[in-house]
Amino acid sequence: MKSISILGSTGSIGVNTLRVVEHLQNDFRVVALGAGGNFEILADQVRRFQPELVAVKDEASAESLLRALHGRGATPPRIELNEKGLVAVATHAEAETVVSATVGAVGFVPTLRAIEAGKRIALANKETLVMAGELMTTAAEKNGAEILPVDSEHNALHQCLRGEQHSEVKRLILTASGGPFRTKSKADIENATIEEALNHPNWKMGAKITIDCATLMNKGLEVIEAHWLFGFPAEQISVIVHPQSVIHSMIELVDGSIMAQLGVTDMKHAIQYALTYPVRQQNCLEPLDFTKVTSLTFEPPDLERFPCLGLAYRALQAGGTLPAVLNAANEISVQAFLDGQIRLSKIARINQAVMDLHANKQASSLETILAADKWARETAGEMLGAEEVSAA
Ligand SMILES: NC(=O)c1ccc[n+]([C@@H]2O[C@H](COP(=O)([O-])OP(=O)(O)OC[C@H]3O[C@@H](n4cnc5c(N)ncnc54)[C@H](OP(=O)(O)O)[C@@H]3O)[C@@H](O)[C@H]2O)c1
Repeated sequence: MKSISILGSTGSIGVNTLRVVEHLQNDFRVVALGAGGNFEILADQVRRFQPELVAVKDEASAESLLRALHGRGATPPRIELNEKGLVAVATHAEAETVVSATVGAVGFVPTLRAIEAGKRIALANKETLVMAGELMTTAAEKNGAEILPVDSEHNALHQCLRGEQHSEVKRLILTASGGPFRTKSKADIENATIEEALNHPNWKMGAKITIDCATLMNKGLEVIEAHWLFGFPAEQISVIVHPQSVIHSMIELVDGSIMAQLGVTDMKHAIQYALTYPVRQQNCLEPLDFTKVTSLTFEPPDLERFPCLGLAYRALQAGGTLPAVLNAANEISVQAFLDGQIRLSKIARINQAVMDLHANKQASSLETILAADKWARETAGEMLGAEEVSAA
């Protein structure tokens, strides 16, 4: 039996991870859970999985968790707070695998510490690799930590690349559903409501990634993530819009062969693959029914209506601290959109304006990356109220 820790256990990926653990009940034991403030879900998880350690974001959440546990007659685990708590979850001595599934930069330091502790990382929290890909992949190599992608596209690429020579791969092809505004005009996107933007056609996910899908920022973050996971330059990573989301991603080989991974749109598949790799096990999902797949269609992404994708390519090509800056600006602008402070189209304008203002530096240390992240958050924050944000 293998022991696992989960960062972000109360979120969409975290909850699905625990469903996979339930399905593979004789193979995995949960030793630590990290969450924010959703103590009702967390209390239920503690009662069912009995972890030794739990991390929550602050004292008030810890008190609420204890009350909720008392109400359920569950024995309280050891409780730690904030980033220190998440690091304790990520580096728990018994955990062999750490599922990194918090959202945004909050998962960065804990995930890095898990890598330094030589754990297997089942990585969903793509923002961490976008911020500090070099630091994380270098640390993984040094400490013998394996990073296995949970993101369905990268999980598909990982499967397609199994047994292939790096030199024989011509390009990686990430598929994108196109999100809820794929067929909408620029004006429709400009005036989109929060509800419309949260209405993803194929996947049920947390709010931040759902908005990233609506702007195609998510695909941009995935291009950067693919670079760090698989070692291909931006020129060898392409994106194709595939609205049905049946093909999760593909690789093209130098002889023109295309290898694709197909499956149902359920994250439990990718999560289980990352937990059990290199072994494949029966999962708990319905198989893909080809008689219900009426068509597989493809179209190029439209960078004019969805400029965030272009910004991500620019950040990857520039390297240094620019990807961390793009990520941080995007976290601020997406939250502002979710809070009803800005329109959807302003997300890209703020992201670009912050990138334009940034004096790029080598992303060689944790301190440099955290400083760039902080600067970008502050700079983006100052732009939220501005009537018009224009790029330099
Ligand atoms: N959902 C998907 O299908 C999917 C697919 C591919 C990749 N991903 C990636 O996976 C990550 C998680 O996505 P999600 O959709 O699962 O997000 P989500 O549903 O919003 O869950 C986020 C998790 O992070 C926790 N969290 C947030 N702020 C925190 C803080 N300050 N301290 C501690 N924990 C905090 C939340 O805790 P509380 O709820 O307790 O506050 C929750 O457990 C993202 O990076 C996303 O891009 C998700």
